[in-house]
Amino acid sequence: MKRIAVLASGSGSNAQRLIEHFRAHALAQVVLVACDQPQARVLQRAWDLHVPSYLFSGKELRDGTLLGELQQHRIDLIVLAGFMRLIPAELVRAFPDRIVNIHPALLPKFGGKGMYGHHVHEAVVAAKETESGITIHFVNERYDEGRMLFQAKCPVLPDDTPESLAERIHALEHVHYPRVVEKLITG
Ligand code: GRF
Repeated sequence: MKRIAVLASGSGSNAQRLIEHFRAHALAQVVLVACDQPQARVLQRAWDLHVPSYLFSGKELRDGTLLGELQQHRIDLIVLAGFMRLIPAELVRAFPDRIVNIHPALLPKFGGKGMYGHHVHEAVVAAKETESGITIHFVNERYDEGRMLFQAKCPVLPDDTPESLAERIHALEHVHYPRVVEKLITG
């Protein structure tokens, strides 16, 4: 049984989908939700779904405390789902090719520092792109630059707002993220 930790900072709708997808799975399970924001809705979602959660600070991310916690839980795979901080090199080295992230645009476009959440959709709409999508990729020490695993596209409509685009992207994420993570686990 592969043990998955989800790292999230916000609402956690992807975290929820992942938990539900692997709930009765034969090969993997989400055993921990780790979060750096005490007010994040993902903590309530984890509670409601009976998944243990772990709250940590930016300092604990950097000083190895989170790494220790993940090792204690015997985590095999780390799945970032709306996690806002840079993963420190030490953590990347401890989980080589075992940390994945989802980005709400078609990388390498609209990625990098500061390009997260609504900022991404605002930039895509402002650039009058005709399509956007999602990118699932391995994580390295730089924002949004790890090896790509999967992309899916959706149209950007002429009257889209960042909010309406975000909704379409979220729907795409919910369909694909659990499936791609599953494929990674089962090879
Ligand atoms: C998603 O759009 C994801 O691509 C991005 O942050 C958002 C998280 O949404 N990295 P949620 O918290 O899973 O609802």
